[in-house]
Amino acid sequence: MSQVHVSTHPLVKHKLTLLRDVSTDHRSFRELVRELALLLCYEATMDLKLVSKSVTTPMGEAHGYRTEDTIGLVPILRAGLGLVDGVMELLPSVQVWHIGLYRDERTLRPVEYYNKLPTAPTVQICLVLDPMLATGGSAVATVDILKRWGVERIKFLGLIAAPEGIERLSKAHPNVPIHVAAVDDHLNDIGFIVPGLGDAGDRQFGT
Ligand code: PRP
Repeated sequence: MSQVHVSTHPLVKHKLTLLRDVSTDHRSFRELVRELALLLCYEATMDLKLVSKSVTTPMGEAHGYRTEDTIGLVPILRAGLGLVDGVMELLPSVQVWHIGLYRDERTLRPVEYYNKLPTAPTVQICLVLDPMLATGGSAVATVDILKRWGVERIKFLGLIAAPEGIERLSKAHPNVPIHVAAVDDHLNDIGFIVPGLGDAGDRQFGT
């Protein structure tokens, strides 16, 4: 079973409530997604490795640190795009590798349509970004792709998960920690998270 981290931060709870609200417009929705991504990224990077580094201050030498690992962000198109900017405010030097998947409305299975990963891996850690973990099919397919690419250290960062999605991702990839703002009640019969927030892609992009 994966480690599942559900944020308890008051700002996350406050902003997620605004995000869920059906009366939140597209512009506010995008801004909230960006802010939530930043807050969740802070929590998801608590275990980054550090190496020692000294630094010259105006008063002398200080002992300090720098992060060691090369990190790749992997937003799942489209909705994952909205999480990129918030994460990059904290991690400005990351690489961004887009994976295009859409969920077939009838079968709910992910269909891959974009993948330009180079042959050899260029990062040591991947953060998979997608606001919604519904059936878990898209997240599992993306982690499959990244493991085939050669990356072993992978985390999932999302906003809302269904219990079904957590179970599926955990079973398929128990070594992938899951960081979300909330775990909701259930999936409805068309694969939407309830109560959720609707379609995260449509609400970000006005479609
Ligand atoms: C949504 C969402 C996830 C996926 C989650 O994307 O952003 O990628 O569905 O569902 P799953 O856990 O059941 O796979 P969608 O297919 O609507 O595409 P979009 O991001 O382009 O809107």
